[in-house]
Amino acid sequence: MQMNIWQELPQPFLILAPMEGVTDIIFRQVIAHAGRPDLFFTEFTNVSSYASDKGRANALERFEIASTDAPIIAQIWGKNPEHFAKCAKALESLGFSGIDLNFGCPDKHVNKAGGGAAMIKTPDLAIECFENAVKSTNLPVSIKTRLGWSDTNEYRTWLTTLLEQHPAALTVHLRTKKEMSKVPAHYELIPEIAKLRISISPKTKLIINGDIRDRAHALELHVKYPGIDGFMIGRGVFANPYCFTNHTPTQEELMELLKIHLALYDERISQALRNLSESRHDPVSEKLRLMRSSYEPLKHFFKIYINNFPGAKELRAKLMETHSIKQARDIIES
Ligand SMILES: Cc1cc2nc3c(=O)[nH]c(=O)nc-3n(C[C@H](O)[C@H](O)[C@H](O)COP(=O)(O)O)c2cc1C
Repeated sequence: MQMNIWQELPQPFLILAPMEGVTDIIFRQVIAHAGRPDLFFTEFTNVSSYASDKGRANALERFEIASTDAPIIAQIWGKNPEHFAKCAKALESLGFSGIDLNFGCPDKHVNKAGGGAAMIKTPDLAIECFENAVKSTNLPVSIKTRLGWSDTNEYRTWLTTLLEQHPAALTVHLRTKKEMSKVPAHYELIPEIAKLRISISPKTKLIINGDIRDRAHALELHVKYPGIDGFMIGRGVFANPYCFTNHTPTQEELMELLKIHLALYDERISQALRNLSESRHDPVSEKLRLMRSSYEPLKHFFKIYINNFPGAKELRAKLMETHSIKQARDIIES
């Protein structure tokens, strides 16, 4: 019998939220260095990409995990029940402790494709996708969602529908899809949601998400809302990468994290370039494309590490003009 990670976590537990383009294998290792959460999630990956011959290699790359990631949950999204089954089955042998279904992403491309928060509008399909995932794997299957599509009161029917499926865990981002992240999270609804969970599916772990800053804030919320098992932090990690600890980092410690991030990135890109050399007929142009396209997204992370100290803005501006890891390193060292 497979261990159920959700039953092994401390009470309350903290999770780093899945964030596309942020919580990749590199950033998770940086956070593990600073102070890890009790549980990591991957960024979300499309089940139909995994199910297609063309998209599988890319999906598998997104499912790569580091030794410091465990325990970690793979998050998936889509709208095709058979593809949920196929992907859930494959995930079992990739080192994950569980599988999470994203029924809350508000991105318009994702919703147009019928996935993420669009599932709120197609509850029968959401159930079918969940059932297909559950029957295809021994891993615990959880769900992450929002209160509703456009009205906060939708949570009564939507969360009831989900809890009736008895997921291993349910994460509720306390906003509707329409609210995006533009209004404060609706903490006032927590007691009602906690009651729903107890009356419908007491074994489902209940996690709340939205505007939680750090460990101290999560513990404060736990005192106020003892009916919650876990707290998920997303953007709080941008303000403080040490948010899962009680530590306020020094400037030196943040610079050290940046150096770790750059070194891990360097290692991963070098590996990708080596793989390309071995597999492609025209590796030179592909290599250049890979190096250019992968360096730009790295710049989004500079603000996390270079912030809130005299000269931070100027240093960041210089780094934003760089085009390679070597240039970035030279600036940091000088
Ligand atoms: C850049 C970014 C990417 C995100 N990607 C995902 C994702 O892949 N899967 C997911 O379930 N939620 C995703 N989210 C939503 C977060 O997981 C979280 O629900 C949201 O940021 C609210 O939590 P916070 O107020 O702690 O940031 C993303 C959010 C951000 C800011």
